[in-house]
Parts: sequence; C-alpha cells; structure tokens
Amino acid sequence: MIEIINKLRQDFDSRLNSVADPKQLEQIRIDFLGKKGSLQGLMKDLRNASAEEKPKLGKDINLLKQHVEQEINNKTLGSKSVGKPEDTFDTTLPGRKELTGTLHPITQVMEEITSIFFGLGFQVEEGPEIETDYYNFEALNIPKDHPARDMQDTFYIEDETVLRTHTSPVQIHVMENREPPLRIIAPGKVYRCDSDVSHTPMSHQIEGLMVDEGVSFSHLKGIMNIFLQEVFGKDTKIRFRPSFFPFTCPSAEVDIQCVMCSGKGCRVCSQTGWLEILGAGMVDPAVFKSVGYDSEKWTGFAFGLGIERIAMLKFGINDIRLFFENDLRFLKQFPAL
Ligand code: PHE
Repeated sequence: MIEIINKLRQDFDSRLNSVADPKQLEQIRIDFLGKKGSLQGLMKDLRNASAEEKPKLGKDINLLKQHVEQEINNKTLGSKSVGKPEDTFDTTLPGRKELTGTLHPITQVMEEITSIFFGLGFQVEEGPEIETDYYNFEALNIPKDHPARDMQDTFYIEDETVLRTHTSPVQIHVMENREPPLRIIAPGKVYRCDSDVSHTPMSHQIEGLMVDEGVSFSHLKGIMNIFLQEVFGKDTKIRFRPSFFPFTCPSAEVDIQCVMCSGKGCRVCSQTGWLEILGAGMVDPAVFKSVGYDSEKWTGFAFGLGIERIAMLKFGINDIRLFFENDLRFLKQFPAL
C-alpha cells in the first residue's frame, strides 16, 4: 500500500505542475479529495491493512491529504498564475503599436506657410473671430453700401457685429497698435455663408502685411514668388492678374501654373492652365488713413490666401468638405510632414 500512496503523491504533483486553468485544478481536487476520489479509496483500503501497518499507513494517508489540500490552496490563492495571461503570454509576439495622432492637414499646411514667412522676417499676429462691422468692412474701405459686401456672404451676429469674413481686419488691429515698419502674417478662421465642393461656412486664411518706407509692388512680387515656389516647388510659374479689392490699390490676383496638368489645361483649372491662389495688392491710402498712418511716408503691401485651397492643390483633394468630416481613413493619409 505504501507504494500506492507514493505513486498517488507523484501523480498529484505532476498533474498539479501542468495545470493550465482553474477548471483543470478543480478536476484534480475532485479526483483526489472528492467523495469518490483517490484519497477516499485509500481510506477504504486501509480497513484491510494489518493491525501493525494501520497506524503508519493512516499517518501517511493523512500527510498526503494535507499535502494535496495545501498545494491546491496555494495554487488558487498564492499564485494567481492559473489561467492568467502570464501563463499564456507569448514573448515572441511583436508588440502592439501605440496609435499616435497626426496633425490635421490644414494645420500642417498652415504651419508650413507660417514657417516660410517666419523665415522672411514676418511675425505672427492673431485677431478675434467675432468682429465689428468697422474692422471687418469700414476701416478696410468697404462702406455700408459698397457692392463688395455682397461678395462676402456675411454671417451677422447683431447689426454691427459679424463673424469675420476674412483675416484682413487683423491688419487694422495691428496698425492701430503699432508703428511701421512692420511685417506680419495672421493665420486664422474665417466665416462665410457658403457651402459646396470648394466652400465651407468656416475656412482658414493667412493674411500678410508689410509696411515700410519705399515698399513697392516688386517687393510683393518677390515675396510671393519665394513663398509659392517654396510651397509648390522651385519650377512653379506664377502670374499676377489685375483685380479689385477695396483695401488695396493696385490689386492683383496671383495665379500659379496648374499643378495637375502643368499648364496644359484640365478640369481642375477649367482648361486655362492657371490656378488662382491668392489676392494681394498695395495697401490703399484710405486704409492707412483709418489707422492714422501717413501715406506720404509709408507704403505697404497686403495679401490673403485660403489654406484649404492650397491644401487641396498640394494633396490633390477634390472636395473641401473632406477636411471637416473627421474621417480617420482620410486623416491618416497625412502623416506629419
Ligand atoms: N481679404 C481678401 C479676401 O478674403 C484677400 C486679400 C487680402 C486681398 C489682402 C488683398 C489683400 O478675399
């Protein structure tokens, strides 16, 4: 019988060693300690043992029982490892990649443009998105009955308060607070009541303004050339077209040769070979007058451009609304520049 006891002990130890989940452990408990378990079997057999052997065998069986109970307890309480991840953890598996976000393509383009102008000595300024009629229109030489107000599809908050329709009012804030010479850019949100494949009610612009003695149209051309070739590539061709803005005179619209067809003519450029990129011009003396600058002494140029349009051309996106749907499948295509 002593051999059977020893054999059971070995069996128990080896089964306990290879236990992988709580179910198996429970099964071992039943097999050894249960009513019909091995230890009960041993107790029954003990009755048939001789009187001399009984005490020793009884003691051995008890020791085995204690051993079994203790080991099972240890496995459940002490080591929490039964069926837990540590047991099944495969150290050869590759790690899980952290999901890191990327900057929104509009933010990326905005930062790129800002840093180009920073390199040209322009400082970044900001202004409020809620403006008075005066800053958004009046001070920029757009009086109440001016037809140019129609171009802007303004959101009115109150009679004299609007969501700014462009970043040009920042020009006025800056000039009211500072004396020339100055070179600033003003990135930010603008609002117009308009929505289709190339317009959204909110979009982003960057305004530029340089005022100094002797600033001329050729400075404007030079700066625009450097800037646009930096964004679209060294071979980008640029042209200035006469245009009209109430706050600049003379005014121009600046075009680049179509980035889609290299000037051959396509759907994107309406077969013209050119893409309108920004509005610009020499600051109108009427604007200098409203901020108290002497237009006999100072001259300057200003420009304004739409970030979405530049981002669309740069990345080949054909619907502006994609920028604002926050679809991760779209956004993930623009890892940081
Ligand atoms: N503010 C004009 C617009 O939104 C752009 C512009 C800015 C034009 C500065 C000339 C000078 O259309």
